[in-house]
Amino acid sequence: MAIAFALAVPTGIAWFFFARIAEHLFPAQRAAALGAVAIGVTAPMSVSLIGTTMNDWYVAAFVIAALWLVVRGRPTARTLAAAGALVGLGAGFKLTGAVFACGFVAAAATLGDDWRTRGKHVLVAGIATAAAFAIAAGPWMWVLYERFGNPLFPYYNDVFRSPWADPVRFTATRVGQYNEYLYTFFKCLSDERMDYVENWYDAQNDDGRDIELDGWAVQARCPHLSADLSKFGAVDGEVLTCTLHNWKFNLRTGRCLTSAGHEIRAHKLGD
Ligand code: FES
Repeated sequence: MAIAFALAVPTGIAWFFFARIAEHLFPAQRAAALGAVAIGVTAPMSVSLIGTTMNDWYVAAFVIAALWLVVRGRPTARTLAAAGALVGLGAGFKLTGAVFACGFVAAAATLGDDWRTRGKHVLVAGIATAAAFAIAAGPWMWVLYERFGNPLFPYYNDVFRSPWADPVRFTATRVGQYNEYLYTFFKCLSDERMDYVENWYDAQNDDGRDIELDGWAVQARCPHLSADLSKFGAVDGEVLTCTLHNWKFNLRTGRCLTSAGHEIRAHKLGD
């Protein structure tokens, strides 16, 4: 109960500032404006998110409070900085709120009598928004960058190229089940699976080829599932590990140390 109440507090904040904005903008139709706000905020979509962890009301609370700061009087650099900080925090706590941050900074370009003032407003709003965003989202983005090499992991991996996700972005426009199949197919793709298929076809034409690894002549393909040992083979002393599934082989005897059978062909160069 207490948790649900705490989760719903941002909704109350958003409603409060929404009502203040409506009251302020339509002073002559105060009752009608408040009625319209009440209808809007109690729509099924709004109500179903109250007290949940979807976080849309959190973003709304920050953004609507910021709007209130801007519309309640002639905005100054100080109010724009405060509003920008609120919008930036909202976007930082939930990244999809970034669309409001961009909108807010763009809207700042309409505030002011001349281009110089407008430029100053954009600058102040932009810096405040970006700084607050960095404070709210920065620590988590840093953790993602450290762990996965992508501060927005798993999104935009076609840009950041984290090895933990496929660098693929695609859209399918055909309507219906076809998309479902296509998405499922692409989601199932991984480097390991593609390697497996390529190796399987290569292995059909095994020509007994050897490669050289750390002073050993070793068969080119792993006896497990035919991984290319020039890519996946790691030699430590007399033990070769195929890093695709971590199977180990004694190079001196050829014995597989992970499973019965699966001997490897190898000999020390120069012996
Ligand atoms: S393919 Fe080498 S361990 Fe599986």
